[in-house]
Amino acid sequence: MPAVENAHCIADLKQLARRRIPEFAFDYIEEGCNANIAMQGNRRALDSVQLQPYYTDAYAKPQLHTKLFGKQYDLPFGIAPLGLSGLVWPQASVMHAETAQKTNTPFVLSTVATISIETAAAHAGDNLWFQLYPPADREICLDLLARAKSVGCENLVVTVDVPNPGRRIKAIKSGLSVPPKITPTSIWQSCQRPLWSLATVTHGLPQFANLTPYMDSKTMAMKDAAEFIRTKLRDVVDLAWLEWLREHWQGNLIVKGILTAHDAKAVMEIGVDGIVVSNHGGRQLDVAPSPVQALPNIVAAVDGGVTVMVDSGVESGIDVARYLALGAQAVFAGRGFMYGVAAGGQAGSDRCATLLQLELEQLMSQLHCSSPQALSKHLWR
Ligand SMILES: Cc1cc2nc3c(=O)[nH]c(=O)nc-3n(C[C@H](O)[C@H](O)[C@H](O)COP(=O)(O)O)c2cc1C
Repeated sequence: MPAVENAHCIADLKQLARRRIPEFAFDYIEEGCNANIAMQGNRRALDSVQLQPYYTDAYAKPQLHTKLFGKQYDLPFGIAPLGLSGLVWPQASVMHAETAQKTNTPFVLSTVATISIETAAAHAGDNLWFQLYPPADREICLDLLARAKSVGCENLVVTVDVPNPGRRIKAIKSGLSVPPKITPTSIWQSCQRPLWSLATVTHGLPQFANLTPYMDSKTMAMKDAAEFIRTKLRDVVDLAWLEWLREHWQGNLIVKGILTAHDAKAVMEIGVDGIVVSNHGGRQLDVAPSPVQALPNIVAAVDGGVTVMVDSGVESGIDVARYLALGAQAVFAGRGFMYGVAAGGQAGSDRCATLLQLELEQLMSQLHCSSPQALSKHLWR
């Protein structure tokens, strides 16, 4: 097991991950879509956000706790939904759930993660949130909602920015599709990562564990699962869809993938509780603006009427601070936590949370900023 304790930033975890998992699995995490413009734009936009210190203000040690939907979390960041997680390492989502439980932060389980919502709840407790890809089959949707409710999950995150899956060039070339194509290259890449291959063979090929109860056979082949997902699972979300969901979900409803004040106001008006301003880490719409560009207008437009959260491009605690300073109430990271698991399993996932926390605390201390809510005062304008 590589010593993730020697990873001093998320870039170090990424480097360890590259050496420990096959290239096609690494590319699955890293890639944006099309020409990767939105992903690169996220980095550029975050780097352009500067924060100013107030050295004459009274100094107090930074406190990071944050209240979201009435629950107190210890940190102002969480783990974004990550599908097909078992491809990166078996039980990756269990590790993320454990990290969330230990650090008292939100963990959002993807509909297409490779562990079930029941398993996730057993590991994340009341830190579990559930992300819904809207099923075309409403009976399945209602059953998923009932399962989320019955494990005590109160926060439902519906993703709206995948009307059509993003086009990922490396994934297409390597045959990493649903179902995956086993090619001479993928076999060769797996052979070069014997630990990953052994772990994967031991646990068996990843399954879409949330969805298997709805499939004819619990052991439905990946190929049939793919067809099932295409016909029964995927639907395109619009406001009417969200209104239907609002009627059927009594817990907190959060819409992920918002990039305009127009959409933010529309979902607020139908009674949504929160939004995640996101361009899906640059994985869906290559012409999308960065949340850095979109956030200020959205925060002003909703004017406190919904909880505004954000993700995309977070590579450090400094990035978390930048988004908080722009008005987000919480920040999610995706790839960082995937690199963590790929780099060192549970210890790597925990290490990602520790690094984000360390960097955020250190930066806030340097700014004389004592709480996440006070960061906006430090935005350089
Ligand atoms: C490997 C991977 C799988 C993802 N799967 C999902 C998913 O199933 N559902 C979803 O809403 N978003 C998914 N996302 C997007 C993340 O939830 C999040 O928006 C994005 O990763 C944030 O950007 P970052 O990775 O730069 O932190 C995925 C992202 C990655 C990297």
